[in-house]
Amino acid sequence: MDLPIQKIDQKNGQEQIIGKNILLGVTGGIAAYKSVEFLRLLKKAGADVTVLMTGSARHFVGKTTFEVLSENAVLSDLFSDTESSVKHIDIATKADAVVIAPATANIIGKFANGIADDALTTTLMAVTCPVMICPSMNTDMYQNIRVQRNLDILEQDGWHILDPDSGALACKTVGAGRLPDPWFIFDRLCAMLVKKDLKQKQVLISAGPTIEAIDPVRFVSNHSSGKMGYAIARAAEQRGANVTLVSGPVSLDTPVGVEKIDVLSCGQMADQMLTHLKKADIIIKVAAVADYKPCDPKDKKIKKKDNSKELSVAMTQNPDILKQIGEKKRPDQFLVGFAAETNDLESNALLKMKKKHLDMIAANLVGSSDSGFKADTNKVKLFSKDGSVFDIPLMEKDKLAHILIDQILEKMG
Ligand code: PMT
Repeated sequence: MDLPIQKIDQKNGQEQIIGKNILLGVTGGIAAYKSVEFLRLLKKAGADVTVLMTGSARHFVGKTTFEVLSENAVLSDLFSDTESSVKHIDIATKADAVVIAPATANIIGKFANGIADDALTTTLMAVTCPVMICPSMNTDMYQNIRVQRNLDILEQDGWHILDPDSGALACKTVGAGRLPDPWFIFDRLCAMLVKKDLKQKQVLISAGPTIEAIDPVRFVSNHSSGKMGYAIARAAEQRGANVTLVSGPVSLDTPVGVEKIDVLSCGQMADQMLTHLKKADIIIKVAAVADYKPCDPKDKKIKKKDNSKELSVAMTQNPDILKQIGEKKRPDQFLVGFAAETNDLESNALLKMKKKHLDMIAANLVGSSDSGFKADTNKVKLFSKDGSVFDIPLMEKDKLAHILIDQILEKMG
């Protein structure tokens, strides 16, 4: 299976998953093999997973596979598998979330109509936690009016429906009905478990480096990987915000549900940030913007001169995007800057907060391998314009992103 390793290593939203009791319902569809990989992601993220299989699911993937990978007994028969006759009630009561992947037309019909005639449907009757259904079937079956009606019923009941992907299906047709990739189901599960305290908020974020051309093949830039800004974009989207991410060139996948705008130079980033500023409630400027750019970028490659050992490139200052935003922003907009510092962290950050009219600045000591540029972890000190200071110790950028959002919301009241 083509599993994008980077997406898994980004540890998207692991915080929501660690220590959680997740019930994974597997029903009889060809995509059942993908739920094995989904189970691996859940385990890797620290979940305790119990798998429930329908009889037909066992025709596609063996029970042993799920048992070994989940390190828990698989529940597939109410009467012969369990030590306790009320095991299904025990696991239903303890569950923090349920994912049914793949979900067949049959199981969707049963759930929607309150039928409880096997281990999975009976257990689901007793759960009170959030449930996500991942329909996967032939396109005509998926579009069938009864299946759609049943999905509508489940949605109205508060269950989350993850739309299937479109593409080539096992039945040799092409259309909607494919089970989404395991990392995507994982990402949406994280989003389902997160509080939606940014609902109806517009969040504008800049991330990554800018690059300033010297000639068509060379440029001036910095080491920003985009990880910090993308983690904040992902966290904000999961918490219900509409997120616009203005990104310099990075090699990260766009977080699910985020509108990304690619830019190269500071000038392009300034244009996009200012265009999208008006509708933003929260603006977070994480990008490492080049302070200077070549005065006179050449349109042809600069040739090496054998008679000259040195080359000087005259540089001129770029516009300060954050300062421009600070001067333009309305009082109801909340503006956060980042300050990458190698020394005098506090005084430099405070000066930038004042000069650029910020509500908050995340002072980021850079220069070590575990924080700042490129690292998966980071540590920052948050200074707010009301004089308060909040220390976020070294942790995964994904986790830090959520704490930063908590702090922003607290300051916004
Ligand atoms: O991308 P990663 O590899 O995950 O690394 C994360 C990070 C280290 C880049 C990030 O955490 C960080 O510290 N970002 C700010 C980097 C920076 O450019 O700092 P600065 O002190 O030079 O700028 C201060 C603020 O002004 C920043 O919000 C910056 O976006 C903004 N700025 C700077 C210059 C400029 N011309 N326009 C700007 O808007």
